[in-house]
Order: sequence, then structure tokens, then C-alpha cells
Amino acid sequence: MTQALKNTGATADSVTFRRMTEEDLDAVLKIEYAAFTHPWTRGIFLDALKSYEIWLMFEGAQQVGHGVINVIIDEAHLLNITVKPESQGRGLGLRLLERLMSRAYELNGRECFLELRASNLSAYRLYESFGFNEIGRRRDYYPAAGGHEDALVMACTLFE
Ligand SMILES: CC(C)(COP(=O)(O)OP(=O)(O)OC[C@H]1O[C@@H](n2cnc3c(N)ncnc32)[C@H](O)[C@@H]1OP(=O)(O)O)[C@@H](O)C(=O)NCCC(=O)NCCS
Repeated sequence: MTQALKNTGATADSVTFRRMTEEDLDAVLKIEYAAFTHPWTRGIFLDALKSYEIWLMFEGAQQVGHGVINVIIDEAHLLNITVKPESQGRGLGLRLLERLMSRAYELNGRECFLELRASNLSAYRLYESFGFNEIGRRRDYYPAAGGHEDALVMACTLFE
């Protein structure tokens, strides 16, 4: 019973999205720090709120993730996508990615680019399942425990 509930996922109709404001900062940082080894800091989010669009995802009343996009002319960039660790693996990442990409399209983005750590397989699979392709690699782009790590660059054409 529990397994059946888990696998069907409470994701179908109860997921909602809204723009982040400064009042959401503490809740966002809690999820960000739980999900990443190298999280965005409070200062980065404050700057991002001024320059980019930050969207929050809720499952019922519970905040379960956030994502950040920037669109310049027709080029979109996905700068952050995060699902709360306890809520991962149930399709919420894909829901959030779909919402962010449809918003990027609304803002006239026709191609989206992103970077991710070469070791981040769950993110890679998520992006691939949406339609992103790997188009390049930046050597030693990210700081990592004991050194640096490559970034993979991925791109996807956006459709309505
Ligand atoms: C990357 C991240 C956003 C993915 O979020 P997520 O909610 O786990 O993603 P999804 O559930 O949509 O997809 C993950 C897996 O769940 C599976 N899944 C999707 N829908 C499902 C459903 N209804 N029921 C069960 N599993 C499902 C997917 O097939 C996928 O499986 P796979 O890994 O075998 O391909 C999340 O892992 C995360 O926040 N990681 C930390 C932050 C991070 O690294 N962000 C990306 C930076 S580039």
C-alpha cells in the first residue's frame, strides 16, 4: 500500500508553482543547503532575485523545490534546479524543469543552455529525459572536494 502510493506519486494534481520573493529566502536556503555540497549562498540568491526569475514548487502546502532561469533575447539559461532530498526520484524534478522551460519559452527563449557537474548523474538523466543534449565540457570548472571538477554543457531547443 505504502509502496503503491509512493510509486504513483502524489505529483499529478497537487503541484503548484509561484515566483520567489525575499520572504521565501530562509525556506529556499534550507532546501538548497540540504540538496547541494556547494550550495548557492544567501547573497547569491539575493542577487539572483534582482536579475533572474526564481520559481518555487509546492506539493500541496509543502515547498519542495526551486529553479532559476535567465533569458536574454532568445537564449535561455537554467542556472539552478533543486528538489528537496526527501522528495527526489518521484518525477518532481521533471515537473519543475517543464515549468521552467515553458516559462523560458514565454519569455522568448528558443534555446536553453545549462552546466552541471560531470559527476551529477541524476541531473544529467533528468536533463536528457527532457531533451537536452551534451554539447561541451569545461575542464576544472567547479570547485570540488580536494580539487576541481569538469562541467558538462547541455543545450535544448525549446518548443511551445
Ligand atoms: C537533479 C534533481 C533536481 C532531480 O530531481 P528529482 O525530483 O529527483 O527528478 P525526477 O524524479 O523527475 O527524476 C529522477 C528520477 O526519478 C524517476 N521518476 C520520474 N517520475 C517518476 C515517478 N512518477 N515515480 C517514480 N520515479 C519517477 C525518473 O525516471 C528519474 O529516474 P532515473 O534517475 O533513473 O532517470 C534532484 O536530484 C536534485 O535536486 N539534486 C540536487 C541538486 C542538483 O544537483 N541540481 C542540479 C544541478 S545541475
